[in-house]
Amino acid sequence: MSSSTSASSPLPTAAAKDFPADFVWGVATSAFQIEGAHDADGKGPSIWDTFCRQPGVIADSSNGDVACEHYARWEEDLDLIKRLGVDAYRFSVSWPRVQPTGQGEWNEAGLAFYERLVDGMLARGLKPYLTLNHWDLPQALQDIGGWGNRATVERFVEYAVGIAKRLGDKVVSIATHNEPWVVAQLGHESGVFAPGIKDRRIAAQVSHHLLLSHGLAITAMRALKLKASLGIVLNMAPMYPATDSDADRTAARLEDGKLRRWYMDPLFEGRYPQDVLDYLGHDAPYVEAGDMAKIKVPIDFVGINYYSRGMISAAGPVDNKTSGLELTDMGWEVYPQGLTDLLVSIKRDYPGAKRLYVTENGGAFPDPVGGDGRVHDEDRTRYLDTHIAAVGDAIAQGVPMGGYMVWSLLDNFEWASGYAKRFGIVHVDYATQQRTPKDSALAYRDFLLQRVSQRRDGRQG
Ligand code: FCB
Repeated sequence: MSSSTSASSPLPTAAAKDFPADFVWGVATSAFQIEGAHDADGKGPSIWDTFCRQPGVIADSSNGDVACEHYARWEEDLDLIKRLGVDAYRFSVSWPRVQPTGQGEWNEAGLAFYERLVDGMLARGLKPYLTLNHWDLPQALQDIGGWGNRATVERFVEYAVGIAKRLGDKVVSIATHNEPWVVAQLGHESGVFAPGIKDRRIAAQVSHHLLLSHGLAITAMRALKLKASLGIVLNMAPMYPATDSDADRTAARLEDGKLRRWYMDPLFEGRYPQDVLDYLGHDAPYVEAGDMAKIKVPIDFVGINYYSRGMISAAGPVDNKTSGLELTDMGWEVYPQGLTDLLVSIKRDYPGAKRLYVTENGGAFPDPVGGDGRVHDEDRTRYLDTHIAAVGDAIAQGVPMGGYMVWSLLDNFEWASGYAKRFGIVHVDYATQQRTPKDSALAYRDFLLQRVSQRRDGRQG
């Protein structure tokens, strides 16, 4: 791509990079964060429905009851996605919508909803990227121990197979879990996310059950010989030592171990990293003979969710505010170089990871709606520009990247932050449910349009 065309591009830094012709561009959401309709048509409660009802756990005391009303407005939302000119839409299935108690009976109305949604994508020429577990475990399973209970592993495999049989030849991709670290750590150790448990031993056991359920679900879905490719989505951040001292380096390495190697080593090497096992001591998970081999089964892709970096000293994480870097509304540092470093490190450390996607990347910013009714989110536009460029830099270094998806299509329920933090490239007025593409959405659209026309010109010339 020549620099003469990039100068006028809405995402100039990204436009100066090369991406393969078959690179997949998308937008992402998750069920609980946008659907609403929390008890419609036979849906059962999820752990997030329950969690939100506890006083004090969600910043604005909100919940997912209504959210973006996507359950009712899905056609309008698919039209919106189509107008952005992306190739793909990453969404998740709400387990309790399709299987209200997480076992036994299926809810046909819920299954039919996702079938309509997927058919709607296909009719619009959009590639469906499905995630099975984006955190909304059926409450009935939590009542019998949730992810801390090994029996949930079998329930998940049953759920995965049910969805795969129904949709696995229509969607292009199925991811088992979204960010198992978050489920284990924030859900069961710090307890700031559902189900709100604060117990390091349970958290470690949960992480093992999530990994085991991943491996067994992949094997079971593989046996169905689906068209869909199969993988998992992990959140990662490169962990930099604050100084060159041995103590800081060791601390940074352990943080990388807890976040990245704890999941990637089992998936690709069939073992947990020893330094993290040592750190956990008696809290290390109980692992049955044969479990690790069941986790380490071939997968077609790893999805990576990237937002920021970690800067670690022996005394703990360095305060973001001292770095001088721009911070998002979440207080996260804007550090695109971290995405390149991370992707390159995965290629180096895990050659078995044959295909990588950035399955989430984006930023929360305050987004004042201008007098002209538009949202001039220059900060988010710049964030996307520099991070897409960072993916381009990783590709130039040989990282096998398959695609990039913006988090998020819509402003939505941002978990413990409620609706106060806005990640959407499309603004949602929660009083009217009106959707307004922000400048970042228009810039992303124009960037993609320009690529298409350049490809066309290239072919003609
Ligand atoms: C990720 C989640 C996603 C969203 C973003 C901001 O951890 O997968 O649902 O909340 O963070």
